[in-house]
Amino acid sequence: WVLASALVSCVFTLSAQDLTMKITKRYLNLPVSHQVDRALMTFDVGGWQERVFEIRLASGKPDYWVFCDMSALKNKEIKISYTGNKTGINKIYQADEITGQDSLYKETNRPQIHYTQRRGWNNDPNGLLYYDGEYHLFYQHNPYERDWGNMHWGHAVSNDLIHWEELPIALYPDEHGTVFSGSAVIDYDNTSGFGKNGIPAMVAIYTADNPEKQVQCIAYSLDKGRTWTKYKGNPVIDSKAKWNSKDTRDPKVFWHKETRRWIMILAVGQEMQIFSSPNLKDWTYESSFGEGQGAHGGVWECPDLFELPVEGTNDKKWVLLCNLNPGGPFGGSATQYFVGTFNGKEFVNESPSKTKWMDWGKDHYATVTWSDAPDNRRIAIAWMSNWQYANDVPTSQYRSPNSVPRDLSLFTVDGETYLQSAPSPELLALRDASKKRSFKVNGTRTIKEMIPGNDGAYEIELTIENQRADVIGFRLYNDKGEEVDMQYDMKENRFSMDRRKSGDVGFNENFPALTWTAVESGKNELKLHLFVDKSSVEAFGDGGRFAMTNQVFPSEPYNHIDFYSKGGAYKVDSFIVYRLKQ
Ligand code: FRU
Repeated sequence: WVLASALVSCVFTLSAQDLTMKITKRYLNLPVSHQVDRALMTFDVGGWQERVFEIRLASGKPDYWVFCDMSALKNKEIKISYTGNKTGINKIYQADEITGQDSLYKETNRPQIHYTQRRGWNNDPNGLLYYDGEYHLFYQHNPYERDWGNMHWGHAVSNDLIHWEELPIALYPDEHGTVFSGSAVIDYDNTSGFGKNGIPAMVAIYTADNPEKQVQCIAYSLDKGRTWTKYKGNPVIDSKAKWNSKDTRDPKVFWHKETRRWIMILAVGQEMQIFSSPNLKDWTYESSFGEGQGAHGGVWECPDLFELPVEGTNDKKWVLLCNLNPGGPFGGSATQYFVGTFNGKEFVNESPSKTKWMDWGKDHYATVTWSDAPDNRRIAIAWMSNWQYANDVPTSQYRSPNSVPRDLSLFTVDGETYLQSAPSPELLALRDASKKRSFKVNGTRTIKEMIPGNDGAYEIELTIENQRADVIGFRLYNDKGEEVDMQYDMKENRFSMDRRKSGDVGFNENFPALTWTAVESGKNELKLHLFVDKSSVEAFGDGGRFAMTNQVFPSEPYNHIDFYSKGGAYKVDSFIVYRLKQ
C-alpha cells in the first residue's frame, strides 16, 4: 500500500498542479531555463493526448521563451501537465504575440539574409520543393529549445529563395516516433490516390525515429503544405525487419521519367540504398551504393540524386550527394558527392578513387536540393553548422541558419567532373549601397572602413591579378581584434580561411585554417565572392568552383580589411563591397 499511496499522492500532486485553460489566443508562451533538466509536458484535449514533448520549463528566471501556435486548437479546453518541477507551469500564458516579439531578429549575431526560425533549434533542410510559385523549406526543428530534440518539420515559404515566411509547424511526432529528415514531392499523376478534385497531393516522405528503430513514413497535404494527413498504412518501409539497421533514414524521393517510377535514396549506415515505387506506398529494394567506394568512418545521411548537364558538352551526368558525419575534410560533418550514371535501379560512380567535397568549410552539412525548381535549375541549400559542436554555438534563443541557396552545375578539369555551387542569382536583389576600389598591393594595404553603415551583413566581390606574389592575403577584422584571415597560397595552389581569432567558440584547434587544395595551377586571375552575414562567411571562388562556408561569432561586425602580399605584388582589379538589404 506504500506504493499505492505514493502513486495516489503522485497523481494528486500532478493533477493539483496541472494547468487547464480554454484556448482563445494564437500563441501559448512557455518559459525555458537551461539550468533545469528536460522533462515531459503533455497537452490533453478532451481526454486525448494532443502532444507530448520534452521541455526545460523554467522554475525561476527564464533564459528565453518559446511558443506553440495554438490556432488549430482555438476554443478548445486543454490541460497541461509536466513531469518535472512544476513551479513554472503557472507562468505559461496565452497571447496573440510571442514573448519578446519586438526584439526578434535583433539579437547579436542573428543572421539577416539567411533564414532562421523565430525560436528553437533547426538542423537539416527537409522536403525542399517548388510548387505553384512557392519554394517550400521544411526543416528539422525543435520548437521548445535551442538544442536538438523533439524533432518536428518546421516550415517556411518564399517566392524568391531569399525572403522567407515562417509558417506553422508542418509535421508533429506521432506513435511512430519523432519526425526526422526526408523529402517531398508533388504527385501530379495521383499515383498515390491522395489527390482530390484535381488537386495533386504534396507528399512528404520522412523518417520516424523511435528508441527501437527508424522507419520510413509518408504524409500528404492538399493545401500547399499548410496542413498534413499522415498515411494510415505507415510505415511504408520498415528497414529493421530487413536489415536490422538503426541508421536507416532521410529518404529522398523523385519521379524517374524513363522508368515511370518513384525512386528513393535512403541512407543506411555505411551505404545508400535505392528503392522504387509505383505509388509512394509500396517500395521495392533495387540496389546499394557504398561498398568498394572507399570505407568511411562516419555514417552517410541526407542523400540526394539528380542529373545535371556537363558544362561545355552535350553530356549529362548523375550526382549523388552523401552527407558524411563525421569524416569531412576537417574531421566533422561535411557534404561529399559522387558523379556517375543512374539507370533507374543502380548508381555507378565514375571515379571511385577520388574523394570529392562540395564545400570545404566547417559549416556546410545536410545539403539537399529543391525538387521541381523552375527552368531546370538545381538549387541546393545546406544546414550551416556541424554536428561536432552544433549545440555549443553561442546564440541565445535559436539555432542555426541555413546556407545561402546555390545553383549547381558540373564542370570538368583534367578529365574529372566536379560540382560547382554558385550563389543563386536571387541574391543580387539584396544589394544595397556599394563601394568599388582598385589598387596594387605590395606589402600591406589597410582599408579602415569597408563600407559606411556596415552592420555586419555585406557582400564582397573581388577580382585579383597576380603579379608574382607567393601569398595573396586579406583579413577582415574589427576593433575588438577579432578577424578572419584568408589567403591564396599561389605556390601550393591553395585557398585557406583561418578563423582562429574570429570570435568563434566552436573552434577546433586541430583545424585552425580550413583549406581548399585545388586552386588551378598557373592561374593569375582569381575571382572571389564573399557573403558575410553577422555570424557567417561564405566564400565562392571562380563562380563557385570552390566554396567554403564557416560560422564565426564576432562581437561586432568586421569592418576593416587589410590586403597583404608575400614574395611579390598583386593587383586588385576590383574590390566591391555591397551592404545587403534586410
Ligand atoms: C543529419 C541528421 C539526419 C537525421 C536528422 C535528425 O543531420 O542526423 O540523418 O534525420 O539529422 O535531426
